Amino acid sequence: MREHKIAAIPADGIGKEIIPAGLAVLRALEQRSQDFKLTVETFPWGSDYYRAHGRMMDEDGLERLKKFDAIYFGAVGDPDLPDDLTLWGLRLRICQGFDQYANVRPTRILPGVESPLRDVKTGELDWVIVRENSEGEYAGHGGRAHRGHAEEVATETSIFTRVGVTRIMRYAFQIARSRPRKHLTVVTKSNAQRHGMVLWDEIAAEVARDFPDVKVEKELVDAMTVRMVKYPQKIDVVVATNLHADILSDLAGALAGSLGVAPTANLNPERNFPSMFEPIHGSAFDITGKGIANPIATFWTGAMMLDHLGEPAAAERLMRAVERVTASGLRTPDLGGTARTDDITNAVVEAIRSSN
Ligand code: NAI
Ligand code: MG
Repeated sequence: MREHKIAAIPADGIGKEIIPAGLAVLRALEQRSQDFKLTVETFPWGSDYYRAHGRMMDEDGLERLKKFDAIYFGAVGDPDLPDDLTLWGLRLRICQGFDQYANVRPTRILPGVESPLRDVKTGELDWVIVRENSEGEYAGHGGRAHRGHAEEVATETSIFTRVGVTRIMRYAFQIARSRPRKHLTVVTKSNAQRHGMVLWDEIAAEVARDFPDVKVEKELVDAMTVRMVKYPQKIDVVVATNLHADILSDLAGALAGSLGVAPTANLNPERNFPSMFEPIHGSAFDITGKGIANPIATFWTGAMMLDHLGEPAAAERLMRAVERVTASGLRTPDLGGTARTDDITNAVVEAIRSSN
C-alpha cells in the first residue's frame, strides 16, 4: 500500500474550519480507494501560537516539515496582528524556505455555479494561472529610514533574476503544452517597468524557442484584466509575476463564482522539498466561527495534492464528487446558497462513498 505523509496546518480564522473539512474528504477517499494510506500530523502554528509563544511557527519548523510529502495549509491572518508579521512568519517562510517557486492556480466554473459574467457558460472559462512565487515584488527587499519623521522613506524593490524567471517560464510552457489548447499568455508591464519586465519578455521569447508547439501571446497586466472579463474564452494558461498573478488570480476566483472555490498549489517542481496546497483565500475574519466557509477551494487543492502525490485516480474521484455536489444546487452563502460548511463536506463525502 502506498503511504503519503501529510502535514496539516490549519493556522487562522476559517483555516481552522476548512482544513478539518478537507481532511474528512481525504479520509473518505482513502477508505473508498483502499490502495493508499495517508498519515496526517496537524501542527498548531499560526496567530494563537504566536500569542502563546511569540512566534508563528517553531524555530525548527521547516526541519520538521521536511520529512512530509506535502503540506495542507488553511490560511493565516488575524484581526489583531499585523498581516506582514503573520504572512511572513508562517506561509511565506514555508514557501521561501522550501523554494516553492511555482504557484499554480487553476480556475474553471464548476457545474451549477454561476459566474458574475453574464454570458459565460460552464466550460468556457478554463484557465491555469502560473504565478512566480519566490522573488519579484514579494522578494522582501527594501527598507525604511527616518521612521516617523517628515523625511521618512520606504523602498520596496522587485527582484527578477534570470534563473528565477527562466524556471517559472519553463514551468508555464510545460503546463501549456500539457493542455489541449497549448496556449500561453505572458503577462507583464514592460511598457512602464522597463527593467525586470523587459527581462521577462526576453526570457519568454528565449524559452518559447524550445516549445514550438505552444502558441504564445503577450499582454500587459492592465489589459489582461479586460481580457479576463470580456474575452474569457481567449485564455488558457497565464504566466505572471508574484504581484500581478496574485491580483489576477483573485479576479479569476471571483469570475469563477467565489474566492471560496479557488485552489492553489505552491510547488517545488524538482521535489527537493515538500510542496504546499492551500485555498487562495485568506482567513476571512467576517465569517470566522460561523460555520459557513465554503470548503470547495480546500477540496480542490486537496485534489491537486493527490495528483502531486501520484494519486490521479483519487484526485479525479474527488473532483467528480465536488462537481456532483455543486451541480445538485447545494451552496454556501458566498455562492448564493444557505448550506453550511458541514453540509457541503457531508455531501462530498457521501458522493465519494457512492462513486463507482
Ligand atoms: P479573505 O480571502 O480572507 O476574504 C475576502 C472575502 O472573501 C471575505 O468577504 C470573505 O468572507 C470571503 N471568503 C474568503 N474565503 C471564503 C470561503 N472559503 N467561503 C466563503 N467566503 C470566503 O481576504 P482578506 O479579507 O483580504 O484577508 C483576511 C486575512 O487573510 C488578512 O489577514 C490577510 O492577510 C489574510 N490572507 C491570507 C492568505 C493566506 O494565508 N494565503 C491569503 C489572503 C489573505
Ligand atoms: Mg492573494
